[in-house]
Amino acid sequence: MTPTMDQIAERYGLPDKGAVADLLDAGRGLPVAFYSAPEIYRLEQERIFAKSWSYACHESAVAKPGDYAVTRAGDTPIMVVHGRDGQLRAFVNVCKHRLHSIAEESGNKPLLQCPYHGWTYGLDGKLKTAPRSDREPNFDCSTISLDPVAVERWDQWVFVNPDVDAAPLHEVVAGIADNAKTINDDLRGYEFQVRYEYDMNCNWKLWAENAVECYHCPTLHSTSFGKTYKTSPDDYHVESDANTIWHKAPIEWLPSSVDPTGLQGFRFAFTFPSSFFALDDYVGFVGSVQPVGPEKCWAFVDMYARPGADPVVVKEWLDMWDRTLIEDKRATDVQQIGYNSGRVPSARLMLDSESPLQTFMRGVADALYA
Ligand code: FES
Ligand SMILES: [Fe+2]
Repeated sequence: MTPTMDQIAERYGLPDKGAVADLLDAGRGLPVAFYSAPEIYRLEQERIFAKSWSYACHESAVAKPGDYAVTRAGDTPIMVVHGRDGQLRAFVNVCKHRLHSIAEESGNKPLLQCPYHGWTYGLDGKLKTAPRSDREPNFDCSTISLDPVAVERWDQWVFVNPDVDAAPLHEVVAGIADNAKTINDDLRGYEFQVRYEYDMNCNWKLWAENAVECYHCPTLHSTSFGKTYKTSPDDYHVESDANTIWHKAPIEWLPSSVDPTGLQGFRFAFTFPSSFFALDDYVGFVGSVQPVGPEKCWAFVDMYARPGADPVVVKEWLDMWDRTLIEDKRATDVQQIGYNSGRVPSARLMLDSESPLQTFMRGVADALYA
């Protein structure tokens, strides 16, 4: 059984709930053990990822009956399935026989057959047949189903939550619903280009914290994002509530061939714990970062481009985003070394620029100490 946060705190000499809240109120970061302790990683899986909404896929991936998309929410493998009745459902992507995944890649099938021994489930998750089941006394297919998880659409995006009793997604993200709608309305017309994937040697929170602040943009991204957008504190707007974070920044640099009239700049929405989508006048993207281990995480970012946009600029922008995200990966990997050194007990935030980190860390602490 995973120890409670109080037990973990005692073991690692961490502050109690009130003291961590005081630390965060004072603009300090979470204690460094939060970024490496295996027990905290386990507890995050149970208290955060098993109870939160994670971005799963674009609606086009599950547009027709029989379409299914594989994804995960933390350690939970999940498949989103478009049923014969038109209903979107999501299940834990783990067979009830001996726990192989039902599917490792997205696709379309009339039935969901586990590739290991052939147990076959309907698109509603109910077991229909199991080879040699007639030789097993008391084996009743009708008593076996894949475990359902919650699924909800947010405009064209499909989100999943392993907790079927979780608060509805639209309530959780109400704080940025109006802002996000402006992104989603525009992104609906964009066309998918490429998926970028990044494997990090850092705790998932370091990557998420990097994603929700742009204090690092003028330095770390001086030739990528920081060149493309205005990132000074007076230009770069950030706001946050308990579950969501919103960024907006005007465009700074364009190829000389481009008329800047009417361009809207950069808009970014983040939903706790680790999903995000963003848009500028040429490309948009959606993705999430998922924990893989106490000091490992993986992020995917699906890139879209505005139809009719100058292909030279689109290519420039896609490259700029890849460079930006590689710079982020390098930085967060190096931060992990600092966090592991034990020589600095916690971060010291610059709250005028980094207030979304405080919001994010409070979300983590509240979930763990609950
Ligand atoms: S693990 Fe799925 S059929 Fe055996
Ligand atoms: Fe960055």
